[in-house]
Amino acid sequence: MVRHPLPDESWPTAEAAATSRWFSSCALGAHRVADRRTWVPAMVPWRASADGFVTQDVLDWYARFARGKPGVLVVEATGIRDVPSGPLLRAGHDRFVPGLKQLADVVREQSHGATRLLVQLIDFLAIRRRPEPATFFARFLRIDDALRERVLATTGDPTLAAAPEDRLRAWFSTAPRDVIDRTLDAREREALDFGARERVTDTHVPHIRELPQVLPELFAAAAQRAEQAGFDGVELHYAHAYTMASFLSRTNDRADGYGGSLDGRLRLPLEVHAAVRARVAPSFVVGCRFLGDEVIEGGSRLDDAVAIGVAFARAGMDFLSISKGGKFDDAKQPKVGEAAYPYTGRSGHECMPTVTIDERGPFSRNVSLAAAIRAAVRAAGHTTPVVTAGGIATFSQAEGILARGEADFVAAARQSLADPDWFEKVRLGRGDAVLRCKFTNYCEALDQQHKQVTCQLWDRAFDPADAHLAKSPDGRRRLVAPEWSDRPRAP
Ligand SMILES: Cc1cc2nc3c(=O)[nH]c(=O)nc-3n(C[C@H](O)[C@H](O)[C@H](O)COP(=O)(O)O)c2cc1C
Ligand code: SF4
Repeated sequence: MVRHPLPDESWPTAEAAATSRWFSSCALGAHRVADRRTWVPAMVPWRASADGFVTQDVLDWYARFARGKPGVLVVEATGIRDVPSGPLLRAGHDRFVPGLKQLADVVREQSHGATRLLVQLIDFLAIRRRPEPATFFARFLRIDDALRERVLATTGDPTLAAAPEDRLRAWFSTAPRDVIDRTLDAREREALDFGARERVTDTHVPHIRELPQVLPELFAAAAQRAEQAGFDGVELHYAHAYTMASFLSRTNDRADGYGGSLDGRLRLPLEVHAAVRARVAPSFVVGCRFLGDEVIEGGSRLDDAVAIGVAFARAGMDFLSISKGGKFDDAKQPKVGEAAYPYTGRSGHECMPTVTIDERGPFSRNVSLAAAIRAAVRAAGHTTPVVTAGGIATFSQAEGILARGEADFVAAARQSLADPDWFEKVRLGRGDAVLRCKFTNYCEALDQQHKQVTCQLWDRAFDPADAHLAKSPDGRRRLVAPEWSDRPRAP
């Protein structure tokens, strides 16, 4: 296994940073400007309350990023529905507005107004935990005529195939695995081995068939709440493993006009965008994050993404943030009692690449996707800013990307988590003080377990006995990055 060293960096002086592209301004939408092209993309830190409210830990988390004054800070994936979703932020009802307002206020105050604040709006479909096989056969497996026919085909036993449900369930729970494999269809095998997962193509299920009718309003109402709370804009989550990305995917073969051809797959994302745009002020930023490559068999590739990007730009999206992979389709089998996690397969590794990913390494790995999309968007006559992310952790990388015209904003998720002050350190000529991300994904492993996300670097100088620090429930990890001890006083 190749383990790539972190790229060498000779950090810029304050004077060089002051005249750099990365620390120059960029329009974001028709009426707003980001003072810098530095960007912190969405990261779920698992700090919301169990019913989706902003907590003190959420405020502390975003306040900490705001002190590093990124040009743009995107708040984690936030649910648009008013349904229980565990400790994920929610914007599906007006009761969430006061908490979101506190969040917007704290970011404005801590960044001294330097940071434009967006929230990522997400919809996702149901996924069950992997069941105990006995529970699956006793409770979850649906016994219908199609299944009885398959029992007959595998066993040749008409009495068994016609047997009462109880007997059939009992037979399944003792049948050899190869017989089970031959009898269940692919979705049933998936439900047994991974946990059942809804897909946007399950149009026989009424609430999935009706997604195109309900989602535009849900996204629009959530965006309006974000506007009321004082955010600068929203990022529509059209990436990774979630509903809107699944509509855009080449794997979407819905036959109701919302799948199949590229126009069909684009239809709902464009309708959601139009509904959101119509509900908020012209100055409110409305952009999206989508995939430059799904990295799954039969999925969308860069040529789809280029066409999607041009269509979004034509529709008036205020920015296009490009990500990669992060799908359920190739996720690893979860343990019994756990749910599949979309960052465990190849597509997931492409989304959050580590230093051991492969020969190419993680650094600037996904920039070519953004560059191709940006080139096509510009060729079509649109000035829509394009955001790139993935293994970016030095000034030279960011400056090179901007100089070559590969993107308009350069985002860093894990490097900003490792050291939320790093943008300020670089800007002030103190790059030598940057705590550099190791790109080994300790943080992402916590995310996978739905544990409060922290960085391994934060605990280097951490005294668990310090009563003033917010800590994880086991008391072993600090929840907020340490402060920059010799931070200069000037803003
Ligand atoms: C802990 C964690 C949580 C994340 N949560 C989200 C999310 O809510 N929405 C999203 O679009 N991407 C999410 N990501 C992906 C990042 O935004 C980013 O695209 C990815 O980490 C690659 O960028 P990087 O190499 O700068 O870390 C998350 C990443 C991490 C490490
Ligand atoms: S835990 Fe590791 S990969 Fe995550 S931000 Fe910290 S150093 Fe980077």
